[in-house]
Amino acid sequence: MKILLFGKHGQLGWELHRSLQGLGEILAYDYPEVDFKEPASLRRLVVDIAPQLVINAAAYTDVDKAESEPEQAKLINVDAPGILAKACREQGAAFIHYSTDYVFDGKKGTPYTEDDLPNPLNVYGQTKLEGERAILDAGGCNLIFRTAWVYSLRRDSFVMKVLRWAHTQTELRIVDDQVSNPTWARALAEVTAQLIARAGANPLQWLESRRGLYHLAGSGFASRFEWARAIVSNDPDPAQQSVRAILSVGSVDCPTPAARPGLSALNCHRFECTFDLRMLDWKFALSLALEK
Ligand SMILES: NC(=O)c1ccc[n+]([C@@H]2O[C@H](COP(=O)([O-])OP(=O)(O)OC[C@H]3O[C@@H](n4cnc5c(N)ncnc54)[C@H](OP(=O)(O)O)[C@@H]3O)[C@@H](O)[C@H]2O)c1
Repeated sequence: MKILLFGKHGQLGWELHRSLQGLGEILAYDYPEVDFKEPASLRRLVVDIAPQLVINAAAYTDVDKAESEPEQAKLINVDAPGILAKACREQGAAFIHYSTDYVFDGKKGTPYTEDDLPNPLNVYGQTKLEGERAILDAGGCNLIFRTAWVYSLRRDSFVMKVLRWAHTQTELRIVDDQVSNPTWARALAEVTAQLIARAGANPLQWLESRRGLYHLAGSGFASRFEWARAIVSNDPDPAQQSVRAILSVGSVDCPTPAARPGLSALNCHRFECTFDLRMLDWKFALSLALEK
């Protein structure tokens, strides 16, 4: 099986590039080799490579910067995935894409299911939602996995930021009114690879009967404050710590260009029942990610 992967240098894409080995021939790309801001070139690439499966882990992910660059965010998060989904349908390839909990406004009060109505609060969430719709409108064998609070140790994720602050500051002030599912990029990549392994050498038919939208994120949920406390207590270099107190604050005390939802945690029951696979508990995954 030929798998075409986009976003190979990103948190998730880097892990996917490793987890997918053994499942087929992986052809992996990232910016600037392929530029999603020129989405017209993507169709040509899919036609030339003729993969059985395309996985898109590339995205415009800077939530705050998207507020001032909505056109760029739209090209990368809406137009490019829509063109990829259409090219996949024309070529008879399956398409896997990732979206976000930020399609929700966080006002429901309990974790969101796929049947809940999205209402994004920021440009990033709006473009990711429009990207989902562009993919579904294109038709074909599409799987969209909405995930949340993705971290890895390679990029400047929340986990890496908290560790850095814990080594350079004495007091951390972390918001406690934003709640979601911390998701280790490696665990998400591994579950994706397990699912593809189940689909077999010709994934189209198996995935076709399961196509659609799923929530897929770390099991359980936490506030950013609880997450930060867990990061500090799993610090692989505790001797380096200068932090003496971690204080909970409200989002109003930490204004950002983009508004963020309150409780945007995802209920992953549909994915678990359909694929008989489950993501690791977020605390356990964090302890594995930070194990020395
Ligand atoms: N990170 C999160 O907390 C989070 C939460 C929920 C959902 N998600 C979704 O999960 C998926 C993976 O996220 P991630 O955290 O792995 O993202 P990431 O680390 O930011 O990786 C995204 C990749 O896309 C590439 N990219 C950006 N602009 C591009 C362009 N014009 N053309 C081609 N590639 C381009 C980036 O390259 P550069 O580094 O060179 O820009 C990067 O390698 C995305 O769909 C994201 O929306 C993420």
